[in-house]
Amino acid sequence: MSTLAILGGEKVRQEPYPQWPVFDERDIEAVTNVVKSGRWGGFPYPGPNTSEFLKRFVEMQGGGYPVLMANGTVTMEVALRAADIGWGDEVIVPGLTFQATAAAPMAAGAIPVIVDVDPGNYCMDPAKIEAAITPRTRAIIPVHLGAQMADMDAIMQIAEAHNLIVIEDCAHAHGAKWRGMGAGTIGHFGSFSLQSSKILTTGEGGILLCRTPELQARVESIINCGRPYEQDGKRIYTMGANYRLGEFQAALGVVGLQRFPEQLKQRNEAANYLEEALSEVPGVRILRRDPRLTTRTIYIYGFAIDPEVFKNPHEVVCAALDAEGIPCDTGYPPMHRYDLFQPGLSRLPVPSAFPERFDYSQASLPAAERAGELESVWLDESVFRDGHKGVDDFIAALKKVQANGEELAKEAAHRRAK
Ligand SMILES: Cc1ncc(COP(=O)(O)O)c(C=O)c1O
Repeated sequence: MSTLAILGGEKVRQEPYPQWPVFDERDIEAVTNVVKSGRWGGFPYPGPNTSEFLKRFVEMQGGGYPVLMANGTVTMEVALRAADIGWGDEVIVPGLTFQATAAAPMAAGAIPVIVDVDPGNYCMDPAKIEAAITPRTRAIIPVHLGAQMADMDAIMQIAEAHNLIVIEDCAHAHGAKWRGMGAGTIGHFGSFSLQSSKILTTGEGGILLCRTPELQARVESIINCGRPYEQDGKRIYTMGANYRLGEFQAALGVVGLQRFPEQLKQRNEAANYLEEALSEVPGVRILRRDPRLTTRTIYIYGFAIDPEVFKNPHEVVCAALDAEGIPCDTGYPPMHRYDLFQPGLSRLPVPSAFPERFDYSQASLPAAERAGELESVWLDESVFRDGHKGVDDFIAALKKVQANGEELAKEAAHRRAK
């Protein structure tokens, strides 16, 4: 049995996984053309590359009225504000996500109400939503996490019954489809991040898909310093800020979309191959493959380990995999444990005004806690971009880490004692 790399042995994977983002001459030419055009962005919005990028993005997602902006956090804040959701309103968010999903409502003055996830796919559990609805609830933000999509059928049904706005957080779900409908086109808004790690990236950026042209006009005004928009023959000013994105980024987005379909196909083929191999590793639970997720996209790929079988919790397993050359991590901690949401620790006005709504000291979100503290392992997209070789190396490393579970546990205990 070969020695683990974390204990000084040879790594399973010697060469690094392929870098992200990728680029070629087309990106250089696109940026150069923007330089030469003299239209670098700013006002007036949208510039020609922005319009082109958004047109193609909407074609890919299959609908929506798009607005390009600075990142995939303000997209959600602006969506809430465009829907008149703000001070003291409640917004339901899942317990496993990047903190932006809850920070955006807080920035808009609203209260994020954290509900548990479905252990089968780590996305918001629709069965937990109704109990969290109060007279102040105005919106739900489901997150399509990793390679999954939240159950949009159940979520939309609840939202319609309670007259709630749905903002899909699609930061991980570019190109994903639910019963053939594009992620971000099912709710009232779809929020996408274009930040550098994302599978469609312009370095920084975000796209908000709106359900109607009226919402789009309002969103465009909010991100464009509050400049007025026309509605029913009236000029309407909004309380806005400058959240526009420049033309350089949009030009990179146009090229990124040219490469996107091939990348999606390649990652998906590798993910299918991985699941066959992973299903034979004891102590591994593959997340549910919902037949309604008709196109899945792989940003990060999550699965669960049984810490008993691996003889170690996920952070120890991930550290050992990392040492073997596998880019992975334990993922998001359960969000109700974050300091940001504890009363008194945030300097934002909303937790100070409603401390009881931010007090999660007695909260129990068992599925998010089990995933985030014990069992979830998230693989980086580059593992899949490297095809079968990338997957084979990962499987070999996982088996090695499992076979050496006892030595690893001893080492982890030793490190903790230090
Ligand atoms: C689930 C989720 N939502 C929102 C965001 C925020 O996106 P951005 O970094 O573009 O603000 C991220 C970014 O990593 C994310 O993973």
